[in-house]
Amino acid sequence: MGNRGTPKGRDRAPRGGGTPGGAFPRARPVSSGGAGRRSRCRSGSAQPVVAAKEPFAVELQAGRTYAWCSCGHSKRQPFCDGAHKTAAPGLAPLRFTPEEDARVWLCGCKRTRTPPYCDGTHKGEAVQGAPLPPRL
Ligand code: FES
Repeated sequence: MGNRGTPKGRDRAPRGGGTPGGAFPRARPVSSGGAGRRSRCRSGSAQPVVAAKEPFAVELQAGRTYAWCSCGHSKRQPFCDGAHKTAAPGLAPLRFTPEEDARVWLCGCKRTRTPPYCDGTHKGEAVQGAPLPPRL
């Protein structure tokens, strides 16, 4: 198990919560189809793949809309590049708009129960033992 990209010091990945302090920043969802808080489509049968076995530390800007990759196929992790359209047509990115600037941990394993934020699920064997998709 390599430590490449492993956060250090106070920037370590959270045990729970999407920020180094453990809390989730306030964010409002972007409506795209009436799915409530999340815009991810749940009607398809596609399953996400593990894109990374650790979360991504990201600086978010208040008022800017982000599209978190929920399928794991994007080459621009943790954000969507449109790959779901061909690789996982039943899935869609989760769009959200933070209400404040914040440094957060966005999930890379795509198994979090608190998307788009890491909740520590990646530490389990289901993620750590999973294959990673090939990268170019
Ligand atoms: S990367 Fe931590 S829950 Fe997915």
